[in-house]
Amino acid sequence: MTGRPVRIAPSILSADFARLAEEVARVEEAGADWLHVDVMDGHFVPNLTIGPPVVEALRKVTTLPLDVHLMITNPDAFIGEFAEAGADYLTVHVETCPHLHRTVQLIKEHGVKAGVTLNPATPAVTLSEIVRDADLILIMSVNPGFGGQTFIPSSLQKIAEVRTMIDRTDSRALLEVDGGVKPDNAEAILAAGAEVLVAGSAVFSSHEYAAAITALRAGHEPAARTTRIAAARR
Ligand code: DX5
Ligand code: ZN
Repeated sequence: MTGRPVRIAPSILSADFARLAEEVARVEEAGADWLHVDVMDGHFVPNLTIGPPVVEALRKVTTLPLDVHLMITNPDAFIGEFAEAGADYLTVHVETCPHLHRTVQLIKEHGVKAGVTLNPATPAVTLSEIVRDADLILIMSVNPGFGGQTFIPSSLQKIAEVRTMIDRTDSRALLEVDGGVKPDNAEAILAAGAEVLVAGSAVFSSHEYAAAITALRAGHEPAARTTRIAAARR
């Protein structure tokens, strides 16, 4: 137990899309802190999912912060639309941003919290010049593109390395982990320094969402519930 409050962000990628509003209400009721929204373009990652209209629709049915993970080539072209749709966090991959500092500033100019993420094979050092500007750092613990994959064990070392980087630089960035997070590895992930856990299949493939969310917290305290952190800016 680290004493750091923990946020659980169910990924709607594993939800029943035909009943999305109902699924969102169920995880909200079950104690979810954020809602993780996976945006894929069939180019940067080999899958296609959703775009700004779905984020806009989600915004109307939940007050949970919308944590939007952009797995798309040229995210700059869509930041305005996702901001307008109601995203609270917009997270971009270092692999898709040749001008990462500019992209992070662009997200912030839209009044949205800026997240930066990296693939499993991309070293932690690629974050060193941006960690102080980011509101969120996301460590991918699977190769992005699909839910239900297995956690890559070497991710634990990277989480610990980035935790140290955040603490040493006095960055206010939250540290999030995404991919293969389950009740049986959550404790190790939190002990390595994570404080936001994305979980798709672990929540939506379970019979009891509240039990799954509680198990993922591994005994840690929830963070103070935030609703609609961007509300004040509108
Ligand atoms: C993978 C996505 C993840 C995915 C996680 O590319 O970024 O957010 O939904 O799913 P699980 O928790 O099932 O690995
Ligand atoms: Zn994701």
